[in-house]
Amino acid sequence: MDEPLAIPVYIVIALAALAAVTVAGVAIYLRVSRRKAAALEDRIRKAESLAFVGTLAGGLAHEIRNPLSTLNINLQLLREDWADPVTSKEQRSVKRIDALLRETNRLERVLSDFLRFAGRYQLHREPHNINAVVEDLLDFYAPEARQRKIEVRTVLDPAVPPISIDAALMRQALVNIIKNAQDAMPRGGTLTVRTARNRRFVHIEVTDTGTGIAPEHRDKIFEVYFTTKPNGSGLGLPTTKRIVEEHDGEIGVESEPGKGTRVQIQLPIS
Ligand SMILES: Nc1ncnc2c1ncn2[C@@H]1O[C@H](COP(=O)(O)OP(=O)(O)OP(=O)(O)O)[C@@H](O)[C@H]1O
Ligand SMILES: [Mg+2]
Repeated sequence: MDEPLAIPVYIVIALAALAAVTVAGVAIYLRVSRRKAAALEDRIRKAESLAFVGTLAGGLAHEIRNPLSTLNINLQLLREDWADPVTSKEQRSVKRIDALLRETNRLERVLSDFLRFAGRYQLHREPHNINAVVEDLLDFYAPEARQRKIEVRTVLDPAVPPISIDAALMRQALVNIIKNAQDAMPRGGTLTVRTARNRRFVHIEVTDTGTGIAPEHRDKIFEVYFTTKPNGSGLGLPTTKRIVEEHDGEIGVESEPGKGTRVQIQLPIS
């Protein structure tokens, strides 16, 4: 039988001391950084679960979309078969088919809005002059503005430097804001777009002379699916906010009921 391994006492003491120092060190480290670590962990967990839920919801939406479009196509074919209902029973059936078609169309709209919002944004950033983006967009919008008796004014600061943005996404963000302004001015009004710069930011401001936002709605307007409109999706402003934040920018809204609303965006210069 082997002899039990004899470990010199000084090594045992040294190991014990080392262990004690390590434990004390870890305890101090843990105490010091516990709050920081907890906050970080919380952020990671939130981000991970949000991303996970987003992926799941996106997958689910895709899964629903295919059978939904099969339903829709077959309902349309059925509707064509019943183009000339004669008896009251046939007319009742046609009404039901029309109701089903309306609902499947609505579901398809909800899904495609959701997918557009929930999809991953791949930013294609290039240096752009924000004044040019605004002017291009307003040129495109001019005929509709005229038709809706909306006067469009611009106050564009020629000194704004080029900024690195995804111009198509930024345009989408601005379109959503302009559409809201237009909805808030059903009898016409004035839409003013301003740009300005300071040392670190480019500012874009869109002001309307519309209905304004009720104080009780003020905190909700960036919530997904919050809408006060019969046909609104409630995804316009959340999408805009997401685009601005993907560009490391900020968005804010000031509004006075009965007077109008101002949406402000600031984007970092570099
Ligand atoms: N310029 C504005 N004037 C008055 N109310 C506004 C304005 N912009 C936003 N709102 C309010 O915020 C809500 C949310 O806006 P958001 O753009 O997210 O959705 P929506 O406009 O209702 O629907 P969608 O954008 O899909 O057409 C609107 O329903 C409206 O009540
Ligand atoms: Mg909107």
